[in-house]
Amino acid sequence: MVMRQLVKYLESEKEKGRSHVLLDADARQVLRHLASRSNAKQRDKAKAPSTTPSPSSKKIMPAPDKVEIIDLPGPDPISASLPKHEQLAQLEQQLRGWLTGNFPQSLRQTLVFSSGSPDGRVMLIGEAPGHEEEKALRPFEGPAGKKLDKILEAMGLNRDEVYVTNLVKFRPATPRQTTNNRKPSVAEVAAFMPVIREEIRIVRPQCIVALGATPLEALLQTDSTVSSMRGSWHEFDGIPVRVTYHPSYLLQSGESPAVKRMIWEDMLAVMEKIGMEISAKQRGYFLPNS
Ligand code: URA
Repeated sequence: MVMRQLVKYLESEKEKGRSHVLLDADARQVLRHLASRSNAKQRDKAKAPSTTPSPSSKKIMPAPDKVEIIDLPGPDPISASLPKHEQLAQLEQQLRGWLTGNFPQSLRQTLVFSSGSPDGRVMLIGEAPGHEEEKALRPFEGPAGKKLDKILEAMGLNRDEVYVTNLVKFRPATPRQTTNNRKPSVAEVAAFMPVIREEIRIVRPQCIVALGATPLEALLQTDSTVSSMRGSWHEFDGIPVRVTYHPSYLLQSGESPAVKRMIWEDMLAVMEKIGMEISAKQRGYFLPNS
C-alpha cells in the first residue's frame, strides 16, 4: 500500500518534469526495506505455478529497480596504440552499432556519448542523459549541467579541460515520454559497465568524480550512500575515485550551503589530487559566514 502511494507520488512528480527527489538517510532505509519486501514477494510469486497465460505480445517497460538481464554485446577490443580520440571514436561507433541488434526497449535510441577532452585529468561520471542532453547530444546540458559548469568554474576549470560522461549512454524511456526523465535500472547500468570501463581505460584520467548514487553504486559495487562514501578516496581499476553529490541534488536541496560546502570539499580534494594550486579564497568558499 505504502509502495503504491509512493509510486503514485513519484509518477506525479515525474509528470511535472522532476527527475530527482531528495531522500535523507531514513527515507533511503525505508525504501530499501520496501524494495526488499517487494523483491521477496516477486520471488515467491515466481516459484508458484502460473495460472494466467503470459502476455508475451505486450512490451513491458521494466520498473527502474527490477533486476533483469540486458544482454548487450559489450565493446570489441580497441587498440591501445591508437591516439585516445581515435579509440573513443571507435567506442562511440560501436555503440551506434548496438542500435541495430537486440537493443533494450527500455532505452531510447539517441546516443549521447561524452564531451570534453580525452586528455582531461578529471573524468566526471553521471548516470544517464535526460531530455536536454538528448536534444543537445551532450551530457549535462540542463540545469544540473549548468550547475556543474559553475562548480568547474570555481575550480578554475572548464568543460573542455575535463572529460564528462554518463554510465548509460541512451536516455531511459518511459511510457508516453515527453520531457520527463527516469533513473536507469540496475540492468541498464550493468549492461553499460563494460563501456564505462573501456572509456576509463582509454582516457586514463588522474581521478574520477562519481556524481551521485548511481555511479557510486556501479563503480564501487556498493549500496552505501553518497554521504557515507564522500569525503575520502576510493578506487576503480587503479584510478582514484572521489564520490560527491549530484548537481541535481544540490538544486533539489534549494542550494543548501551545507551541501554546497560538502561538494566543494570534494572538489578541493580533486584539485589537490591533480596538482592544481588552491588559493586561500578558494579554500574558504561556501564556509558558514564566508
Ligand atoms: N544527470 C546526469 O547524470 N547526466 C546527465 O547527462 C544529465 C543529468
